Amino acid sequence: MSSISEPEFSQQPVRKLVVIGLGLIGGSVSAGLRQRHACQEAIGIVRDQVTASLALERGVVDRAYLSLNEVAAELGEGDVIFIAVPTLAVESVLHDIRAQVSAAVTVTDGASVKGSVRDAVIAAFGEVPSNIVLGHPIAGSEQSGVAAANPSLYQKHRVILTPETSTGAQHIARVTAMWQALGAEVLSMSVSEHDEVLGATSHLPHAIAYSLVDTLAHDIGNPNIFRYAAGGFRDFTRIASSDPTMWHDIMRANRGAVLHSLDKFVDNLLRLRDGIEREDGEYLLGVFTRAKAARDHFTRMLAGSTLKDSIALSASKICVKPGAALQNHLRVPGDKSISHRAIMLGSIAQGKTVIDGLLESEDSLATLQAFRDMGVVIDGPANGHVTIYGVGLRGLSAPQKPLYLGNAGTSARLLSGILAAQTFSTTITGDASLSARPMGRIIEPLRAMGASIHSESDNLPLTFSSAKRFSAIDYPLPLASAQVKSCLLLAGLYANGITRVRQTQITRDHTERMLGGFGCPVRSGQDGWLAVTGGTELQGCRVDVPGDFSSAAFFIVAASITPGSDILLEHVGVNPSRTGALDILKLMGANIELLNLGTAGGEPVADIRVRYSELQGITIPTELVSRSIDEFPALFIAAACAQGCTELSGAAELRVKESDRLANMAAGLTALGVNVDIRADGLHITGSPLRGAEVDSAGDHRVAMALALAGLRTDGAVIVNNAECIASSFPDFVTQAKQLGISIEVIDS
Ligand code: S3P
Repeated sequence: MSSISEPEFSQQPVRKLVVIGLGLIGGSVSAGLRQRHACQEAIGIVRDQVTASLALERGVVDRAYLSLNEVAAELGEGDVIFIAVPTLAVESVLHDIRAQVSAAVTVTDGASVKGSVRDAVIAAFGEVPSNIVLGHPIAGSEQSGVAAANPSLYQKHRVILTPETSTGAQHIARVTAMWQALGAEVLSMSVSEHDEVLGATSHLPHAIAYSLVDTLAHDIGNPNIFRYAAGGFRDFTRIASSDPTMWHDIMRANRGAVLHSLDKFVDNLLRLRDGIEREDGEYLLGVFTRAKAARDHFTRMLAGSTLKDSIALSASKICVKPGAALQNHLRVPGDKSISHRAIMLGSIAQGKTVIDGLLESEDSLATLQAFRDMGVVIDGPANGHVTIYGVGLRGLSAPQKPLYLGNAGTSARLLSGILAAQTFSTTITGDASLSARPMGRIIEPLRAMGASIHSESDNLPLTFSSAKRFSAIDYPLPLASAQVKSCLLLAGLYANGITRVRQTQITRDHTERMLGGFGCPVRSGQDGWLAVTGGTELQGCRVDVPGDFSSAAFFIVAASITPGSDILLEHVGVNPSRTGALDILKLMGANIELLNLGTAGGEPVADIRVRYSELQGITIPTELVSRSIDEFPALFIAAACAQGCTELSGAAELRVKESDRLANMAAGLTALGVNVDIRADGLHITGSPLRGAEVDSAGDHRVAMALALAGLRTDGAVIVNNAECIASSFPDFVTQAKQLGISIEVIDS
């Protein structure tokens, strides 16, 4: 499916509009174009005089006739005929058009099935002529007839056009402009794709609604039944009041696609029936939780928002202004790395895993959805609480479609370790950023274990096929990466023998810790070796996810650079393999204290108190780089506000994160007036007064949040474009920043 761009019609897109069939669909096109002055004249061709009078009386058309014959001769280039008769009546209208109308006139339609209309065009013309552009507005109402015509019916709705290669560009452009004038978004797809999609999403629900009401009204036979029907019945059956003739035509015209999806539905319903009969609670929960997740996603789409902006930002720009000192205490959302791992281990463990504090962000929800797609029953998340009914090491099932992981690098790399060992095939895909990130680092060792992985140039999509053998390896990590290490430890669960991974630098050890909690201890040896024994079944358990240190780091830096600040961030994960940024900031002179040290879910936690303090530039010790890898965007802002120069080297990995963080942070800081010297593996940043500017996140959540917080120390506002990516890791960023007293706003773009 592709989106059609703005056509070039500076004035009215339609000269004369002729609508054949003034029901709800045709009448609404005519009334809408008239109301918006988007056509010179609107003419209706109707079945009877009553409809003609009503259409004139209501201002739906300027003229109305009972036959096309009356106007055919006056039509020419720039005019549009819109066919809006019931699907099975289209063919006879097309014969009239062929006999009476010039081929210069643009002809389009609004029928819900495109294959049958295309057949009718070929029956009438012998081919699909270049002036005929088939289309379908995805809008309607259970009301029908010209009296229901609504000039705003198509506002913010989608229209699908199904042009052929032979269709004239000027005709496509005219029809596109006509729909856009009505406020619709115009998309294009093939006839077969259209009929398949609509068969499932529109025609099937209508068939089910009619059948359900018919069952209640006739088959159950209790005369009082509708008396007790409430909102659920009303919502579910509204479309059973739609025009029966129209739907009779649609079901017949799209018979093949409707039967295909109806069979699948009947099959699902029979399994549900069986689940109810057997009182199989887990099966029922599986169906209901999957359906709820899918429907909630759809509701957000309906609200015109993606998952991103519904849970985080309602627009893509944020603005931060210098203001008061930061005060207050709060708990940042759950740790992203730990959330991913808890979902993964809970899914492949035996029995129930209950997670609290799960991060509900784009990235972690992508992991959750991937396991649902592989048949795992997951209840939640609701306020960070999730119950996973683990299926055991070998219990995952083949997903119906590629697993879409959005922006989530951790998900892609860790999941690959699990997928490489399965006996079914899967493909993982992601957004543009994830698709550009290097995957060779996991492909190479997984192949050495025997995995069968297909990928173009070591990037996503990756396709895993059933491996003939899957054996343990000894693998010295060629780079400091917790993702590669974790991928291989997870793969090692499935391998024959003992998988050993050797790391020379410290990277986050959440996988090692959590595997222990699930009953599969990871042994560690001299020289950084870690070992996992294949075939060990994991046992479901409780996981309490601490606050994400990487999210906290933004507020730690914010308080450190804003005079007078004093904040407390509660219950933050302070695993030493993650907190290199605390060491760096302390070397710079930051005033940070860890209070209430304890543990949660096998991880050290603490409350972090941060007070403003003047910072000094330093040379960052390279041994701290791998323990603070995600915090550099925030640390660069601290460096920009420090006295003197801060030098970072040994951090080339920052170039292959969600974006090239060295290049993008350097660009942002330069725009803010900071003196930045960019190196192959680091930055030299000289602290200087910052100026307000408009900067870009490059689609990277951490770049967006870091640059926004520079606005605490600029002389004017900092506006960060493309900030919706923040929802990858920290959907509540704006809300929490406000709670701390930061002057931050979302700008509705
Ligand atoms: C992560 C590891 C790090 C980090 C990423 C999360 C993890 O990536 O940058 O945000 O959860 O294992 P690398 O292993 O590629 O350094």
